[in-house]
Amino acid sequence: MEIGVFIPIGSNGWLISTTSPQYRPSFALNRRVTLNAERYGLDFVLSMIKLRGFGGKSEFWDHNLDSFTLMAGLAAVTSRIRLYATVPTLAVPPAIAARMSATIDSISNGRFGLNVITGWQRPEYSQMGLWPGDDYFAHRYRYATEYVRILRDLWERGVCDLAGEFFTMKDCRLSPRPQADMKIICAGQSDAGLDFTARYADYNFCLGKGVNTPTSCTDIVARMQAAAGLTGRAVASYALFMVITGETDAEAEAKWELYRQGADLEALAWMVEEAVADRNATGESSVRHAIDPRSMVNINMGLLLGSHAKVARLLDEAATIPGLAGVLLTFDEFVSGTEIFGERIQPLMQCRQHVAPVRAA
Ligand SMILES: Cc1cc2nc3c(=O)[nH]c(=O)nc-3n(C[C@H](O)[C@H](O)[C@H](O)COP(=O)(O)O)c2cc1C
Repeated sequence: MEIGVFIPIGSNGWLISTTSPQYRPSFALNRRVTLNAERYGLDFVLSMIKLRGFGGKSEFWDHNLDSFTLMAGLAAVTSRIRLYATVPTLAVPPAIAARMSATIDSISNGRFGLNVITGWQRPEYSQMGLWPGDDYFAHRYRYATEYVRILRDLWERGVCDLAGEFFTMKDCRLSPRPQADMKIICAGQSDAGLDFTARYADYNFCLGKGVNTPTSCTDIVARMQAAAGLTGRAVASYALFMVITGETDAEAEAKWELYRQGADLEALAWMVEEAVADRNATGESSVRHAIDPRSMVNINMGLLLGSHAKVARLLDEAATIPGLAGVLLTFDEFVSGTEIFGERIQPLMQCRQHVAPVRAA
């Protein structure tokens, strides 16, 4: 099973709390986390794009770097690990995304790929006059389809003439083309998102769910694999989890309890408002999962909570999900989190025994 890190490009990572570690993103922080990941033999890092934060006392995600330029910087200081940036399709024209990708492919010597997101939070785009109207909620994967057809044409042939509903390309050129067979990620969870992934993407990222229930995403992985079966394309599924660990289960649980007690209610209220506004074609957006009252403080991301041995065991359990190629991890604190993962957790994982152990620096 592959392991990736969802690097902390936005303030406070993925905990919407005033009592979790409070920090702002910087290149230095993300370089350190990424170099840790590379050093411990992890497979990839991914950065998201968020263009507007949730506010509140914790200023959650009010401070966010740009994904492409961050990954370009990381490409220059790493040598082995794969790197994925996220492109906001409403804000970056596809021919520019194709060219920036080709540039990072060159910097990284073929280690780069792209997470294509449609966007589901209106204020991220309306603040700059780029929101196409609320009908977009329902047809966003039609828009994304044209977008990736342009990317693929430019990457694979160097020219695109697509005349579509949303884009008109006229002898649009790209050179140099990327050296790597460029991989596209889609993290859609809806039927439309999975169908789009099955047709055009290489990897699907889904949400792990619950506390210490690593196989809770078995269903969505199965849905993804069934959709890929219909198109005859290979799509690898990855699941997103948060790791909160300690020397003992009790120590880890105490941290989680502390973070929960500090939940930033104002920022959470913003998230609820945004998730409720997202209406897909069937009216029930998959984004609603984020606002399940059970665990809004970590966006209802599947949590692996406990001692190092327990987290290792839970990850080995995730590795048994049919069709799951890997996991994408977040931590409450990323520098120590990646170090503890590399030195204390990964060596205990049966499914990572092929990775050479690295001693503490
Ligand atoms: C691992 C992962 C990464 C994501 N990255 C982003 C991102 O960078 N920006 C964003 O606006 N949405 C992001 N999303 C949200 C998805 O792109 C998608 O809109 C959401 O999962 C809902 O699925 P749907 O669009 O099929 O309804 C991410 C989701 C996951 C699980």
